[in-house]
Amino acid sequence: MDEKKDIKTKLWGGRFKESTAPLVEEYTQSVDFDKNLYAEDIAGSRAHARMLAAQGILSPEEAEQIIQGLDQIQKEIEQGTFIWQKSLEDVHMNIEHRLTELIGPVGQKLHTGRSRNDQVALDFRLHVSKCLSLWQKNLVSLVSVLVEQAEKHIDTILPGYTHLQPAQPVSLAQHLLAYVQMFCRDCERVLEARKRVRVSPLGAAALAGTTYPLDPGMVADELGLDGIFFNSMDAVSDRDFVLEALFIGATIMIHLSRMCEEIILWANPGFGFIELPDAFATGSSIMPQKKNPDVAEIMRGKTGRSVGNLISLMTTMKGLPLTYNRDLQEDKEPFLDTHKAVYMSLQIMARMMEEIKFNARAMNRALKEGFLNATELADYLVGKGIPFRQAHHITGNIVAYAEKKGVGLEDLTIQEFKQFSEEIEDDVYMALDFKQAVGRRETPGGTGPQSVERQIKWARDWIRQKNGGSV
Ligand code: ARG
Repeated sequence: MDEKKDIKTKLWGGRFKESTAPLVEEYTQSVDFDKNLYAEDIAGSRAHARMLAAQGILSPEEAEQIIQGLDQIQKEIEQGTFIWQKSLEDVHMNIEHRLTELIGPVGQKLHTGRSRNDQVALDFRLHVSKCLSLWQKNLVSLVSVLVEQAEKHIDTILPGYTHLQPAQPVSLAQHLLAYVQMFCRDCERVLEARKRVRVSPLGAAALAGTTYPLDPGMVADELGLDGIFFNSMDAVSDRDFVLEALFIGATIMIHLSRMCEEIILWANPGFGFIELPDAFATGSSIMPQKKNPDVAEIMRGKTGRSVGNLISLMTTMKGLPLTYNRDLQEDKEPFLDTHKAVYMSLQIMARMMEEIKFNARAMNRALKEGFLNATELADYLVGKGIPFRQAHHITGNIVAYAEKKGVGLEDLTIQEFKQFSEEIEDDVYMALDFKQAVGRRETPGGTGPQSVERQIKWARDWIRQKNGGSV
């Protein structure tokens, strides 16, 4: 870096006599990451220029020149010919500097009635809003894939777990539909948060509003935003919209991570419930037999970072006095990082769930070995008039017996059953049947096939509504 660079090239250099120390320049610059906001910065500037002209602050010709210059800059950035300069600090000053190079002094009029404080807030709101739309779209796609799989597996039965111990048999569809609920809630959260994101802060200027007769409503309309700020000091210092997005992003990642945890467990030969598609697994460089669930592990790993990103910005915010403080520059990297994780993970999970192979035989084996019909036997005994506590105890004894013998409850003979309770008859085998056990749970939201069908119908309606009426 050139230490003797003339301080007067800085857009704020008027009152300065000495150059910024190179280390400070590198430390304070944000262009490395806020150049990701270039499209929003240009869109915001176009809207601002049009509004300035409409209010008679710029002439129509001046606004036109500015807009053409901005169009040219957008092209240069997208073609990769734009030269980003760290000495110009951030995306805003890089673009404004180039604008003046291209169109001369008129370029310097663009910033009339505006501060970087309301400018950056606007850019970031537009950016977060764009990202939230992508999350929404990809959440709906993932829900669609899960519903498709659920539909195919209403009759596939596997152990449901509590404490990671085999508990009761459930339909695989029910298991997948639990995640559908999580991702639907995430999507609703995205839509709710978007309303608060899509508010224009432009016109707040540095902190106090401005003496120019601006029309902030026109800028908001131009940009398709839903409203404008109510208080200029709040407008330039509020980052709740990022916090909300980070919370939602972290929650999406947590849901994905829980799913990853199950994928990792289920791919373990001890479970053997799934086979991962080759395209979503990796081998070991030393152990030829291995097929590792690295993709799910990386996703689970990235979740930690996404949670950290939320905590990081919450911590930054907690001590800030009104209004804009440069600390706020620290809002971008956590969000950009969370966005990348959420956006990629949602797409990858959808593809992985589309191609995953479920192994019903292994699930059935686990049902037998885990005595997942023990509750059914206890309920059966209750049906024969035995008090529940006693039925629980008798069943426990029968399970211990079968375990010792190395068989499932359904493999015991009637004579064997009768050693534990005279009440047990031939109809016990019906009670012990796993499919029947699932079929008996038709309470609302239960795992019975009719209940599952209702959930699938609900999810299909939800998807249709989110896709604007089409399937
Ligand atoms: N890079 C800054 C940020 O991200 C832009 C706003 C700078 N404003 C200022 N008054 N220095 O927050």
